[in-house]
Amino acid sequence: MPEIRLGDSLYSCGNGETVLECLERHGVAIPSSCRSGVCQTCLMRALSGDPGSLAKQGLRETLQAQNYFMSCVCRPAENLGVALPDQAGLRTRGRIVEKTFLNERIVRLRYAMDTPVDYRAGQFMNLIGPLGDVRSYSLVSVPGVDEFLEFHILLLPGGRVSGWAYTQAAVGDESEMLGPHGACFYVGGRPEQPMLLAGTGTGLAPLYGIVRDALSQGHTGPIHLYHGALKASALYLVDELRAMAATHPNFNYVPCVFHPEGAAEGMQIGDIKRIVLDREGGVAGWRVFLCGDPELVRELQRACFKAGAGLRDILADSFLPNRSPSKPA
Ligand SMILES: Cc1cc2nc3c(=O)[nH]c(=O)nc-3n(C[C@H](O)[C@H](O)[C@H](O)COP(=O)(O)OP(=O)(O)OC[C@H]3O[C@@H](n4cnc5c(N)ncnc54)[C@H](O)[C@@H]3O)c2cc1C
Ligand code: FES
Repeated sequence: MPEIRLGDSLYSCGNGETVLECLERHGVAIPSSCRSGVCQTCLMRALSGDPGSLAKQGLRETLQAQNYFMSCVCRPAENLGVALPDQAGLRTRGRIVEKTFLNERIVRLRYAMDTPVDYRAGQFMNLIGPLGDVRSYSLVSVPGVDEFLEFHILLLPGGRVSGWAYTQAAVGDESEMLGPHGACFYVGGRPEQPMLLAGTGTGLAPLYGIVRDALSQGHTGPIHLYHGALKASALYLVDELRAMAATHPNFNYVPCVFHPEGAAEGMQIGDIKRIVLDREGGVAGWRVFLCGDPELVRELQRACFKAGAGLRDILADSFLPNRSPSKPA
C-alpha cells in the first residue's frame, strides 16, 4: 500500500483511499468542501511521487507547475511526499463595499480587494466564512469593467456561509478568499460563434458575468441566455437582463419559471431543460455554458452533446454542496 509522508510522519494509505481520506483517518485536518475535484479547497503540494493527472485536472498551469494537486480525488499509485500548500500566494483579503438583496433569498456582495485579483468572469473564489468554513462563489464581476469582486449568494436553510452572507455580513466586514479557480469563462478569438447559456437560481451569477464579458469584448454571434426558477419571484435581474437584450441585438434572454403563478409576459413556463431543447434544437458549433444545480448541469451537458455541441465547447460549473465534516458553530 502506498505511503504518504507529511512532514516527519508517514501514513499508510488504504486500498482505494484518497490522500484526503487517509490523512483525515489519521487525525490530520485538511480543509475540504466539495470532495469531488471541483472547488480546489483541498489543494496540497507533491514534494515527491506522482499524484496522477486526475488530481491535477482543472488546476491552472502555474499551480500544476508547482506540483499542486487536489487531495480529495488523489488515489495514489505510489508513495507520495506531500505538503500543505503555502497559501500565502493563494490567499487574498477583501472588504464588503456593497450589500444588496436581489430577491427574497439572494444577496449580492461586492468586495474591494486589498490586492488586485487576476481573474475571469465566471471563475470562482473560495470564500472563508467567519467560522472558518470554505465555500465556493462564482465571480459575476468583469475585470477591466468593474472595480470590485461581485458574488450572488443564495440563502440555504441552515447554511453556514450563505446564512452569514444573507443575515450578518455588513458593509465594512472583511473576508479572506482563495482563488480564482475554474475554467468556465469566455475566451475571445471566435466572436461569431453562437453561445448558449443556461442555469437556475444563482447559476445565473457566472452566466451573467460571462455574457457581460463576451459583450464587452465585442462578441457578435448570437448569445442565448436561459435562466430558470421555480416561480417568478425567485428570478432576479430580470429588468437588467431585459435592458441588456434591448441594447444588444445579438443577446436573447429567456426567463423560465416552473409554476405559472405570477409569471409576467415573455416568461416561459415549464421545465427549463425542456424549454432550452425545444427552442434551440441543434447546437452544433455552439459554445455552451451551464452553471448551478448539479443535476440540471449534468442533464443539459448530455443533451447538448447529443444535440451536436463539441465536448470541448461545453463548459460547466456544478454548484456541488459542501461535503466536509462540519466544524462546531
Ligand atoms: C464551483 C462552485 C461555484 C459555486 N458558486 C455559487 C454561487 O455563485 N452562488 C451560490 O449561492 N452558491 C454557489 N455555490 C454553492 C456554495 O459553494 C455553497 O455550497 C452554498 O452557498 C451553501 O453553503 P452554506 O455554507 O450556506 O451551506 P452548508 O452549511 O454547507 O449546508 C446547509 C444545508 O444546505 C445544503 N446545501 C449545501 N450546499 C448546497 C448546494 N450547493 N445546493 C443545494 N443544497 C446545498 C446542505 O446539504 C445542508 O443541508 C458554488 C459551488 C461550487 C462548487
Ligand atoms: S476539490 Fe477537493 S474538496 Fe473540492
